[in-house]
Amino acid sequence: MRDAIRFALNGAIRAVDDVPPHMTLLNWLRAEGLTAAKEGCAEGDCGACTVLLGTPLPDGAEGFDWRAVNACLVLVPQVDGRAVVTAEGLAKGGSAPHAAQTLMAETHATQCGYCTPGFVMALAALGRTPARDDESVMDSIAGNLCRCTGYRPILEAARALPLEAPAPEEAALAEKLREIAAAPLDYRAGSHRFLAPTTLDDALRLRQQFPEAWLWAGGTDQGLRVTKQFQVPPGILYLGRVPDLRGITEDKDGLTIAANTPYADALEALAALAPGLDGMIRRIGAAQVRNLGTLGGNIGTASPIGDTLPPLIALDAEITLVSAERGRRTVAARDFVTGYRKTVLDPDELIVAIRIPRPAPGTHIAAYKIAKRVDQDISTVAAAFALKVQDGRVDHARLAYGGVAATPVRAEKAEKALLGQPWTPETVAAVKRAVAEDISPMDDARGTAAYRTAVAANLLDRLWHETAEPGTPARLEAL
Ligand SMILES: Cc1cc2nc3c(=O)[nH]c(=O)nc-3n(C[C@H](O)[C@H](O)[C@H](O)COP(=O)(O)OP(=O)(O)OC[C@H]3O[C@@H](n4cnc5c(N)ncnc54)[C@H](O)[C@@H]3O)c2cc1C
Ligand code: FES
Ligand code: FES
Repeated sequence: MRDAIRFALNGAIRAVDDVPPHMTLLNWLRAEGLTAAKEGCAEGDCGACTVLLGTPLPDGAEGFDWRAVNACLVLVPQVDGRAVVTAEGLAKGGSAPHAAQTLMAETHATQCGYCTPGFVMALAALGRTPARDDESVMDSIAGNLCRCTGYRPILEAARALPLEAPAPEEAALAEKLREIAAAPLDYRAGSHRFLAPTTLDDALRLRQQFPEAWLWAGGTDQGLRVTKQFQVPPGILYLGRVPDLRGITEDKDGLTIAANTPYADALEALAALAPGLDGMIRRIGAAQVRNLGTLGGNIGTASPIGDTLPPLIALDAEITLVSAERGRRTVAARDFVTGYRKTVLDPDELIVAIRIPRPAPGTHIAAYKIAKRVDQDISTVAAAFALKVQDGRVDHARLAYGGVAATPVRAEKAEKALLGQPWTPETVAAVKRAVAEDISPMDDARGTAAYRTAVAANLLDRLWHETAEPGTPARLEAL
């Protein structure tokens, strides 16, 4: 058990033992005089604070898994056993600028410059991504906001970026950090505490001992309680170092995603299991948020506008919970949320895994996110449908919605109206009326109740066009 936070900053190991555990990495960096990372929003939306976070690859592999993250959402103790690179540390030996810096200058991709270090760091992460296509280039900067330059020259810089080989000294640094990260952390500052166990048993024991401690997985939701609501956590139980809470296993019947696997790692497997989900998950936050945020964290918020519960309900997923005292239990995704931001989770329990059964052959899976913007926006209405039509009639139907009630909703009246019916526009019209009875939306800044009701119903038209007339351009991107 260690009590000081140790990590590498721009290649040199640092030990920190004098900050409150809920201090953000951004605030710490700036207090250290590393002011390239800027605070634009302090909520993960602008990318001005982007840094590279390197996690040593597991035993047997050399070097780091490098990702762009928002330093405003990461706590200092969260980087224990990891490496942080800021724009100041990109130029090797402080001499020639990094390719991302040179290209941003050469393509005239900066004007006021406030956003520029964040873009440079997002590009530096892209430069370490071997498999790259135009979509991933766009994705890499979708979480960075620039109000002066316009994105064309920035994209030009991104597209010209060469692939960066790991520096020779990275292997030795990763080895040192791997040793540091092997020991759990119990960091205390005054009455504040940050606990980072390295086994599930220890995590469960600590959960039982300190039920008041905030669970912290990616922190992309919890972080805002600190930076926006100025809450001070009585303690933090960090789950990001527990191997049993991370990883994906696949078998012939489906997929099991450990609860705190970041979205960025789960995307490919999810898209392979149910291609219709890909677009929805890719629209959760931006790359920096998906590099930290997790499925378990999304479910854990029980937010009525969280994007993952509707697809999980439509796919008949199950959620496994575990406590030190009572062991494991499994609940259906549709039963997990019991009220506005309330779940079946007991105070000593953790979510350990999400099991998604493989859809039966011929099942059409669709997930739709209706928001005011394509990137970096919260859903006004989210919908996920699993539909199987056999001999012209609906054989299986699961319809689930977010943003239309205090909890995610399974539209059971609408499902009943569908089952056994011919898959025709007339049936769709009847089902649309039933959907209005299943949901109870409200007015808010994102949309009125009437708008949400109309959208929830109209998405069934889109489903019909996509399944019955596959050539119809039913999505914006198809026009
Ligand atoms: C800029 C930005 C954009 C975003 N965009 C979207 C979006 O488009 N769609 C969307 O749905 N969300 C969005 N979010 C919200 C957030 O990113 C997601 O909800 C994310 O999945 C949270 O995961 P996390 O691991 O970061 O959770 P954390 O913040 O670490 O935790 C969230 C909650 O889950 C609980 N929890 C976490 N792990 C466990 C566990 N193993 N067992 C029990 N409880 C657990 C915690 O107690 C906490 O209540 C966005 C957030 C930001 C900052
Ligand atoms: S300050 Fe805006 S994303 Fe961090
Ligand atoms: S150059 Fe000014 S915000 Fe991007």
